[in-house]
Amino acid sequence: MPAEPENAQDPLPPAATVLGRRGALLAAGAVLAAGIGAAADELAHKELTARHGRSAAPPPEGAAVPFHGPRQAGVTTSQQPATQLLAFDLPQTTVAAGRQTLRGVLDALTRTLADAGSEAPSDLRLAGGGTTRLSSLVGVGPALATRLSLDVPAGFAELPAFPGDRLDPARGGGDLLVQLCAADRWTLTVVAELVGTAARSAGALPRWTQSGFLSPTAPGTTPRNLFGFKDGTANPDAAQDEQFVWGPPGAHQNGTVLVYRRIRMDVAGFAALPGDRRERMIGRRAGDGVPLTGTAEHDDPDIYAKNPDGSYVIPADAHVRLTSPRLDGGARMLRRSYSYDDGPADRGLLFCAFMRDPGQFVRVQDRLATRDALAPFLQHQASAVAYVLPGAADGGSLGDRLWT
Ligand code: HEM
Repeated sequence: MPAEPENAQDPLPPAATVLGRRGALLAAGAVLAAGIGAAADELAHKELTARHGRSAAPPPEGAAVPFHGPRQAGVTTSQQPATQLLAFDLPQTTVAAGRQTLRGVLDALTRTLADAGSEAPSDLRLAGGGTTRLSSLVGVGPALATRLSLDVPAGFAELPAFPGDRLDPARGGGDLLVQLCAADRWTLTVVAELVGTAARSAGALPRWTQSGFLSPTAPGTTPRNLFGFKDGTANPDAAQDEQFVWGPPGAHQNGTVLVYRRIRMDVAGFAALPGDRRERMIGRRAGDGVPLTGTAEHDDPDIYAKNPDGSYVIPADAHVRLTSPRLDGGARMLRRSYSYDDGPADRGLLFCAFMRDPGQFVRVQDRLATRDALAPFLQHQASAVAYVLPGAADGGSLGDRLWT
């Protein structure tokens, strides 16, 4: 296979990591992982296989998504139809007072989310129609981690500015990020209110919130974005998650980094382009998501394949070429994006991607910002990055390992 000229890296080395490698393995993580119930494992396995469109029994009807476990469920649980993101700030005080407030907020969020997602939520509004199937995650932002000297992965930092960014600080950033996912808006509205109340009463200040939704998607199939293309096809499998999504063995192996971008899309402008032009801009067919070089949706796009006239089958400015893992030493990010609709002039994608090394997002977005054929139809309006904490053990709290 020819080497990609612009990025001379080994084809498939482990991802370059910015997460601190701790020499001594924290045995606690492994013990905890082993101690989690078989039911949770089975469910997680089914969720994972569903995520990749392989045949998998759908999760048991009505089963709650386990909240407790080594990892937070909101990362790899199969994508649910709706999401709500909430960001909070913490008051700027002394380190000791800030740590105390953060502990209080994380305790309150742990209690609230565990209860809301359980088989028997205490809020009657969540108890009417079977379990909520709520999955959630909580993360901390880089500024808070620095202010309070939290034990987050080395190199976890704010994202740099990218060409074309039009970021509204009031819609991005934040000390704490919570993502809720569920089957319906009712659940999200109720849980978002409970989360807001819990966080505020423990001292956090609401910063922004954003709702999103998926296209109707049968189990095992890929949702579409508002440009009409399947979005989320080329995601890592479970083994690749271990290599590229979750932290390296050690203190952060059950954490990951979430990159969030609120991207407004010129849906009408894109729809006005000829269909074959749109497919060349993406590098895949619109109807079935098959790469222009392949015959099945999950075929790897071959960015080296050429037409008889010497041009690339997947054009130089196609989205799947510029985002190809082949340009990043094989590294993959787990994309779990949602659409949003905040009025006719403001619709787009809530790009949500999980990765061990946020530098991977930076490399990809650096290419996209200036060369992506989609760029004239996109505007990045908000941005956030969060270290998604390891899960809470039964009886424990999220963030138990932030203080060491
Ligand atoms: C509104 C903006 C965007 C749209 C409409 C969009 C759409 C798509 C579509 C249709 C695909 C092909 C299907 C798939 O594999 O999921 C794709 C793939 C991909 N996109 Fe995006 N995308 C957007 C923004 C981004 C951003 C900001 C990044 C990262 C910086 C990104 C990274 C990727 C990656 C890594 C792939 C998979 C490439 C592969 O492994 O073949 N996308 N995107």
